[in-house]
Amino acid sequence: MTQTKYILSERDMPRQWYNIIPDLPSPMNPPLHPGTRQPLGPQDLAPLFPDALIEQEMSSQRWIDIPEPVMEILAQWRPTPLIRAKGLEKALGTPAKIYFKHEGTSPAGSHKPNTAIAQVYYNKLEGVKRIVTETGAGQWGSALALACNYFGLEAKVYMVKISYEQKPYRRVLMETWGASVTPSPSTETEAGRTILAADPNSSGSLGIAISEAVEDAANRDDTKYALGSVLNHVLLHQTIMGLETKKQFEMAGDSPDVIIGCCGGGSNFYGLAAPYFLDKINGKDIDLLGCEPAACPTMTKGHFHYDFGDSIGMTPLVAMHTLGHSFVPASIHAGGLRYHGMAPLLSELLRQKLMRAEAYGQVECFEAAITFARTEGIVPAPESSHAIRGAIKEALKAKEEGKEKTIVFLLSGHGHFDMSAYDAYLSGSLKDFELPQENIDSAWEAIKDLPEAE
Ligand SMILES: Cc1ncc(COP(=O)(O)O)c(C=O)c1O
Repeated sequence: MTQTKYILSERDMPRQWYNIIPDLPSPMNPPLHPGTRQPLGPQDLAPLFPDALIEQEMSSQRWIDIPEPVMEILAQWRPTPLIRAKGLEKALGTPAKIYFKHEGTSPAGSHKPNTAIAQVYYNKLEGVKRIVTETGAGQWGSALALACNYFGLEAKVYMVKISYEQKPYRRVLMETWGASVTPSPSTETEAGRTILAADPNSSGSLGIAISEAVEDAANRDDTKYALGSVLNHVLLHQTIMGLETKKQFEMAGDSPDVIIGCCGGGSNFYGLAAPYFLDKINGKDIDLLGCEPAACPTMTKGHFHYDFGDSIGMTPLVAMHTLGHSFVPASIHAGGLRYHGMAPLLSELLRQKLMRAEAYGQVECFEAAITFARTEGIVPAPESSHAIRGAIKEALKAKEEGKEKTIVFLLSGHGHFDMSAYDAYLSGSLKDFELPQENIDSAWEAIKDLPEAE
């Protein structure tokens, strides 16, 4: 029998995160202050983040130590396994080898605790008592609730209303770890009230929930804000996954030709791919593929432009692939992928043609998820099903071409709280959403006058 799982010992856990910024072929556009439109200084971020995270956000240091207390908690479930998807390979009849890195093994069920633990640790060190955040699917909110619980901080989560309604047990999970959860848009913030005045039936979006959380944090001295994706320091914390994966491929005596992840804000795909992006920069032939929903096609239909990270325009302006901050995606079940922008760092890698992107409809993604569940046994999160769709496509292409490729994808989370979405798929009521070109055009019109990125 050939080996199925590649499992590192705790001793082999990476002790440093990898920062790709000093290795980029050309520098990134700087974030700008939303008022002055001048490059942002560390003091501009101080109301929202602790100093240590601001330093990491702006760091050009290649390797950054993972603090011991963070390692101790991560070791409860890390290193996560790299698994050969033999059942899936067989069902597809492909000559390709398919591996997946399984992040659904964390207590919250996804990759998100990798950064939540680190972020809450640094907040705790600097005396912060309360952390606010937003959550789409509920995965990030759960991760933050878990981390705040470990370090004894209060957690407040603004949860996108459509997910709040679709996933009541995600709310209960967050409450189990002691967090309080509010559906967004809410009447608790000026931002929420503004959105509700314009659209009382708003189903919410990540951009709106970010506006609410940022406003909440900025108005209280004991509170900071935490973001589950997009920012450099979040992407940095996720590189532990890719660094483990590299070691696991050494164990397997193999090396991936294609690296695949779903993309919401960009952190799971980047976290897996970071060390391979460096290989690609150094000339290795590797195909890096980010998969996004056709209902929110940030990388495939958005523009590389300065835009706000939230819907109201309170955050700094960052250069990224964006559909425009007023874009509200249709209520697909992959709530964690409903974001108008993409991490500036990942956007830069896309702009520099170091990766490519594809967009898929939710029905084809659920088809892929069902194939995976029936061949590998694991029920994936709807977000992760986009990566599975990408991996299946690549494996079938390899079959057509008769090529023996090695494919790896990130299984960013399990779907145990997403059974209503599976129910909709299995009963035939799950639909794809049309995205009219005029929706894309009008959201783009609204940001055209913001500064252009280089
Ligand atoms: C399971 C899962 N995968 C992926 C994502 C997308 O985020 P990112 O692109 O930052 O990894 C989310 C976000 O909530 C998620 O919950």
